[in-house]
Amino acid sequence: MNIAILGTGYVGLVAGVCFADAGHEVWCVDSNPDKITALNAGKVPFYEPGLDDLFQLNRKRMKFSESIGTTVAKAQVIFIAVGTPELADGAADMEPTFRAVREICAAATEAKILVLKSTVPVGTFRKVASFCKEHSKFEMEIVNNPEFLRQGAAIEDFLKPDRVVIGCSGERATQAMRELYEPFVGKNNKPILFMDNASAETTKYAANAFLALKISFINELALLADKLGADIDSVRAGFTSDSRINPAFFSPGIGYGGSCFPKDVRALIHMGKTHDVDLKLLKATDAVNERQKTILTARLSERLGSLKGLTVALWGLAFKPRTDDVRRAPSLKIMEELFLNGAKIRAFDPVAAKNAKEACRVPFEVCDSALSAATGADALLIVTEWQEFRAADWRVLKTKMKQALVFDGRNLYDPAKMKAMGFEYYGIGRQIRSVTPG
Ligand SMILES: NC(=O)c1ccc[n+]([C@@H]2O[C@H](COP(=O)([O-])OP(=O)(O)OC[C@H]3O[C@@H](n4cnc5c(N)ncnc54)[C@H](O)[C@@H]3O)[C@@H](O)[C@H]2O)c1
Repeated sequence: MNIAILGTGYVGLVAGVCFADAGHEVWCVDSNPDKITALNAGKVPFYEPGLDDLFQLNRKRMKFSESIGTTVAKAQVIFIAVGTPELADGAADMEPTFRAVREICAAATEAKILVLKSTVPVGTFRKVASFCKEHSKFEMEIVNNPEFLRQGAAIEDFLKPDRVVIGCSGERATQAMRELYEPFVGKNNKPILFMDNASAETTKYAANAFLALKISFINELALLADKLGADIDSVRAGFTSDSRINPAFFSPGIGYGGSCFPKDVRALIHMGKTHDVDLKLLKATDAVNERQKTILTARLSERLGSLKGLTVALWGLAFKPRTDDVRRAPSLKIMEELFLNGAKIRAFDPVAAKNAKEACRVPFEVCDSALSAATGADALLIVTEWQEFRAADWRVLKTKMKQALVFDGRNLYDPAKMKAMGFEYYGIGRQIRSVTPG
């Protein structure tokens, strides 16, 4: 099949490479000329494990361009995978999506199946359909196919999805979507869930909102556990062994970030407001998450008093491990607070330092290793749970740090072992001595 994908970000490029891997001819279009230049030169413009290998393997079935003209003429199915970022009022910015739809309508010379893969507010399919009716003389069948991949495991998630959700009504689109996704779900015995468009659009928000809610729930409980002298790991093991409670994605930390959960929770709150439904649970989810991003610096200030002139090391800048994405990463908020309190910041991340430098509003020193970042530091903050941090050499670190003080925002280490090695160690929900902010 000939496929076009508009948007070559984490979702669009991964989808393109995986469809090419299944034997399809894929045109990738992106309005960012730098991305297209990189892709045409054989370079993947961002970090995603396994993507480069699969990209090199399938480049022969992929083409890249800044404009859609000739692409549309050939493609039977056109995916829109452009960003839907957050506007100031929490609503999703639909300008890139409608710009893409306008370009498709202008270039189309025959009927198309137009697939909304981006996370779009419920009811978008209706707006896109009426826009197409107005701006194209050819029939555009609108499909919603929300994406559930996780950055850091995107290839695996796309190749072996738990399910594929398709919102559409026409037979032609149903057949095309079945043909495209059967190779990914068939061998793993996973379902393609066909439903109406509005339900597919809602499903994506429901999934992200529920995962965000789980994270805020365990984070809030961890703050209380701290005060009550309970150990959140034991509590978690105790209550998630109930077969009704899935333990996945249920670990305490310093809050969720990234380009999806924060904006999708807020977009859903905004949709509720538009339709006179006060989504109290999601407002609390968002508020708890914002508070959680401040707990490491609150604890640090409580322990050290003034941070003026002190050196604080950060391990991890990406919003999660195995990605270079720093959008809404807790690290950005933490570094701002540290800077405003007069601390000097030394940070290390295996891949995200460049993006963090561009996104962070305050100065910080980028170090080329975890050890180098911690050298001379008055305190070390664990911000992203990169695998390589788990095997830290604490004996060496003890000799290099100015003070043996560790605030572990991801509960990577065993508090008893850290204490035995002479470190003053604070985790999340595991230490009675820590404070609850706000
Ligand atoms: N990143 C994830 O983990 C993830 C997972 C599931 C769903 N989603 C959703 O998928 C969508 C895309 O997310 P992403 O992380 O891939 O975004 P991204 O920011 O990484 O990529 C979006 C790309 O679209 C391009 N673009 C913008 N307007 C365009 C236009 N009119 N024509 C062509 N290209 C255009 C941008 O230049 C950019 O390269 C969003 O709605 C997001 O919520 C993301």
